[in-house]
Amino acid sequence: MRALRFHSYGPPDVLRVDELPEPSPAPSQVKVRVQAVGLNPIDWKIRAGHLRLLPVFRSPPRGVGTDFAGEIVAIGAGPSTRRVGERVFGSLQPFGREGALADFLVVSDERVLPIPDDLDAAQAAALPVAGGSALQALTDEAHVGPGQRVLVTGAAGGVGHFAVQIAKHLGAYVVGVCSEANAAFVRELGADEVVDYARDDYTRRSDRFDVVFDAASVSSFAAASPVLAASGVYISTGGNTSALLGAAAAAVMARLTSRQRAIPMLLRNDARIWQRLLQLVRQKAIEAHIERTISLEEVADAQRAMETGHGRGKIIVRLS
Ligand SMILES: NC(=O)c1ccc[n+]([C@@H]2O[C@H](COP(=O)([O-])OP(=O)(O)OC[C@H]3O[C@@H](n4cnc5c(N)ncnc54)[C@H](OP(=O)(O)O)[C@@H]3O)[C@@H](O)[C@H]2O)c1
Repeated sequence: MRALRFHSYGPPDVLRVDELPEPSPAPSQVKVRVQAVGLNPIDWKIRAGHLRLLPVFRSPPRGVGTDFAGEIVAIGAGPSTRRVGERVFGSLQPFGREGALADFLVVSDERVLPIPDDLDAAQAAALPVAGGSALQALTDEAHVGPGQRVLVTGAAGGVGHFAVQIAKHLGAYVVGVCSEANAAFVRELGADEVVDYARDDYTRRSDRFDVVFDAASVSSFAAASPVLAASGVYISTGGNTSALLGAAAAAVMARLTSRQRAIPMLLRNDARIWQRLLQLVRQKAIEAHIERTISLEEVADAQRAMETGHGRGKIIVRLS
């Protein structure tokens, strides 16, 4: 089978399509014929070596990609809640050596969920990391409710475009921060107001927000604090280790100095949150915007573009 891999950390050129034997599912695992994979910034950050110092992290050769959708073609020995032929989606743990960008993958049966009949594989593969981050941030961390004012940076991106839709669904007044090129798109997602970050600095606004969700990880608690309500919440996706450490330090400072809160977000990427995303899809509260669909051979170019930090919606890789 084909599998996109890299044998040393480096730029997108290190990616190559290897021929590997098909994996066999161990007990409690399923084997999935992969149909679609949703790309995320974590994929290129791993390839570039940004997470290499984490002790749990497996060094190259490594596969690429976490979020997948496909069809179960085999089930490991023992009882299973899944069945052969079932259409499923899920997300691999990013620490392991295998990636989702392969013709087949094996995964614990707890890390897949059935895809509803009326949902396309590409839509399902777009959900886990980006949709899960937006949902966890706005519900579990910030507890957004009707009438609250929510500002989202990176409102056009993978995480941000789900966040705008979810915040609207929760009844919030939503301000999306993005480039001028994405302003119309963010309005179509449901934002009540759009801020072009090249013209206006949201941190100098005179109004206040209950929640600033820094989905693009371009701001900080210190910068956002003046536009937060007295007990407002700043949540950062912490685009890199120092941003995450900064957000963690800010969380401690915020507790000591004010009623405002700063939260460094770490996604709990599991089936419970994917189930909640499916519920939102069923309610037509969210829909992934698929900016483009590409082949395995085009992933290196796509990652090169993603590294600029200006993604709109999701890029999906089609396999079989
Ligand atoms: N901590 C976690 O568990 C977790 C989970 C998921 C993602 N993340 C991280 O979250 C970040 C975003 O992920 P993503 O999938 O949404 O990435 P993405 O699809 O590349 O989106 C990034 C967005 O940021 C916007 N942007 C760039 N500069 C900006 C600025 N100065 N102000 C406002 N927006 C700006 C871009 O919009 P324009 O083109 O309009 O500039 C783009 O839409 C990444 O760093 C990712 O690694 C962390």
